[in-house]
Amino acid sequence: MSGTFTWNGAAVPFRPGETVASALTRAGVLRFGTAPLGQARALFCGIGQCQNCLVHDGTRLTEACLLPCREGMTLTEAGARDE
Ligand code: FES
Repeated sequence: MSGTFTWNGAAVPFRPGETVASALTRAGVLRFGTAPLGQARALFCGIGQCQNCLVHDGTRLTEACLLPCREGMTLTEAGARDE
């Protein structure tokens, strides 16, 4: 492992070069938040096209499948009211 980031207050380990979506999935996190109509946000396309993997980085929503893991970053679920 090369480091950890925080997801909803819990430490998640990541490997070098890994995206947030990959690290969360490997850690058993399959729900990344809630979309406006109440459906689960999760990894779907994996290439930044569907917007189904949005997470909140403290300032904005961003695609977890495109976001490289960085030591110490803090992320939370994207809620239905974030968009
Ligand atoms: S999974 Fe589709 S944009 Fe990330």
